[in-house]
Amino acid sequence: MTYENILRTDDDGITTIAVHRPDKLNALNDQTIGELQHCFDALAADDSVKAVILTGSGEKAFVAGADISELASQTSLTARPLAMKGQKLMNTIEATPKPVVAAINGFAFGGGCEMALACHFRYASDNAVMGLPEVTLGIIPGYGGTQRLPRIIGKGRAMELILTAGRVDAEEAHRIGLVNKVFPQAELLPKTTKMLRKMLSFGPVATSFALDAVNHGSEMPLTDGLNYEATFFGLLASTNDLKEGMAAFLEKRAPNFTGS
Ligand code: COA
Repeated sequence: MTYENILRTDDDGITTIAVHRPDKLNALNDQTIGELQHCFDALAADDSVKAVILTGSGEKAFVAGADISELASQTSLTARPLAMKGQKLMNTIEATPKPVVAAINGFAFGGGCEMALACHFRYASDNAVMGLPEVTLGIIPGYGGTQRLPRIIGKGRAMELILTAGRVDAEEAHRIGLVNKVFPQAELLPKTTKMLRKMLSFGPVATSFALDAVNHGSEMPLTDGLNYEATFFGLLASTNDLKEGMAAFLEKRAPNFTGS
């Protein structure tokens, strides 16, 4: 599939996906959601891809939201499938079995903020501004924002942000735990890449199990989540990566993980 609205760059295991609609501040129209869905389905199945950075093209916007010109023409029959299509994409991003990091390089409103919330964690540039302003348009967040935001920053803060259509700058987003780190814009992608390179030096099977345990375990009652964690812990005992990691520590050398 040829993409018109996303740019893909592959660099030795790290794939960067940039939403690219420069004239619309990278707003998510139907075509862009379809392209992202196709791309993330392919990334999940591609063994050469070890980690993903999701960002926006240009210096102004990550993604300024769902495309309002398309939202304006929705009917009660089309709006629900539209929300479900967006939710499916966000679920796919979240379920990617390798780390997906949002590099929020500017405006991240509405669907853009929701896309960042679906990533495994978030880094932002110092010019980032985030929020879920849907109520100002007479709608609610429909791509998972009402569910993921409270899980990440807590119910009270999420409720306030959504009901007041609040906008938070990078500093405030960092303070409330909406983003994990903030960098000057020019350093956002280099620092994100550097962190991913470090993560890729760890045991890949353990990384993928940890992702799964956090993602699925957080949807379970604590007892089930703990059981799920212990099962992964047990499975890892049969991997070469565990033997190599422990041996490397004891022999005071760097590990050489094979992902087996
Ligand atoms: N959907 C469709 N088009 C959008 C868009 C969106 N979510 N956000 C921005 N655009 C378009 C604008 O319509 C404009 O297009 P035009 O030049 O053809 O008129 C272009 O992107 C540039 O946006 P503009 O508003 O001129 O830039 P700005 O710097 O003055 O303001 C924002 C930037 C992000 C503050 C402003 O665009 C905005 O509020 N966007 C909507 C945010 C939102 O409510 N998102 C949630 C949607 S559910």
